[in-house]
Amino acid sequence: MSRLIHRSKLSSIVSSIAASRKGRFLSTVDKPFDKSIPPDTDKVDEAETVHVPPPPTEKLLVLGGNGFVGSHICKEALGRGLTVSSLSRSGGSSIAEPWANSMIWHQGNIFSMDSWKDVLNGVTSIISCIGGFGSNAEMYKTNGTANINAIRAASEEGVKRFVYISAADFGLANYVLQGYYEGKRAAETELQVRYPYGGVILRPGFIYGTRRVGSMRLPLGVIGSPLEMVLQHAKPLSQVPLVGPLFTPPVNVTAVAKVALRAATDPVFPPGVVDVYGILRYSQQR
Ligand SMILES: NC(=O)c1ccc[n+]([C@@H]2O[C@H](COP(=O)([O-])OP(=O)(O)OC[C@H]3O[C@@H](n4cnc5c(N)ncnc54)[C@H](OP(=O)(O)O)[C@@H]3O)[C@@H](O)[C@H]2O)c1
Repeated sequence: MSRLIHRSKLSSIVSSIAASRKGRFLSTVDKPFDKSIPPDTDKVDEAETVHVPPPPTEKLLVLGGNGFVGSHICKEALGRGLTVSSLSRSGGSSIAEPWANSMIWHQGNIFSMDSWKDVLNGVTSIISCIGGFGSNAEMYKTNGTANINAIRAASEEGVKRFVYISAADFGLANYVLQGYYEGKRAAETELQVRYPYGGVILRPGFIYGTRRVGSMRLPLGVIGSPLEMVLQHAKPLSQVPLVGPLFTPPVNVTAVAKVALRAATDPVFPPGVVDVYGILRYSQQR
């Protein structure tokens, strides 16, 4: 009797494996005993190799991957072996550096879903660097609405993690750049609602590094680096009402890129807001 049950299970598993070869999933659920196989035979069908698909690999999409912060993120991510794509209105043709050849550059406008809906196929995480200045209405649109659109599309497509490069509070400057900050905060709220577990918001102050402007390279570190050294130890000053935010330390673009990348790919990276001091701390970890 025990032999009979064993044979029945064996035949069921073998037929399941055969089914998986025809594109169906491997199943170990018992099927009725197959009377066509004599119960006293130990002969088993020839062993077949089951082709299990490899585990899904990280596929990162950087929104604004051709910009100042975005390009540093792309370069860093490629260096870690990720498959990296970028979406922006101008594509990636402006970057003449070797790493840019390993990128998948998409040209599209975040406000026209038709121009980029296919870009989300297979993407596991997104880092959005879309933002900018202009009139209050333009700033709200670029920093807020554009990112809200992206966050909604990503969550509907099942993208697991979403990192948004927001900005630190600048006290008095918030009144001058109202559309910028209101847009940033609106996008942050959307991210926290749609991605309570996989959403990370980075809030850097001034970001320094080498910024390309056309064919020129601006070494912003000349100002940013010494300021960072001094101000990272002056956290209490940054908490003084209204003027305090002026003492927010600048951060290196490489530090922002590293932390954004870790937040996008490490499933246990805590969701929520990471302020400047958090960015500095995480970037110093290995
Ligand atoms: N730089 C800083 O010091 C600093 C400080 C704090 C926070 N941040 C924030 O960090 C983020 C990145 O800053 P950044 O200095 O790297 O800015 P950036 O160089 O101007 O990059 C912005 C990117 O967004 C893309 N973009 C803009 N509108 C788009 C649209 N409608 N559709 C698709 N792509 C669009 C741009 O490419 P195209 O023009 O080709 O579309 C560009 O690649 C921004 O959100 C910014 O507010 C920056």
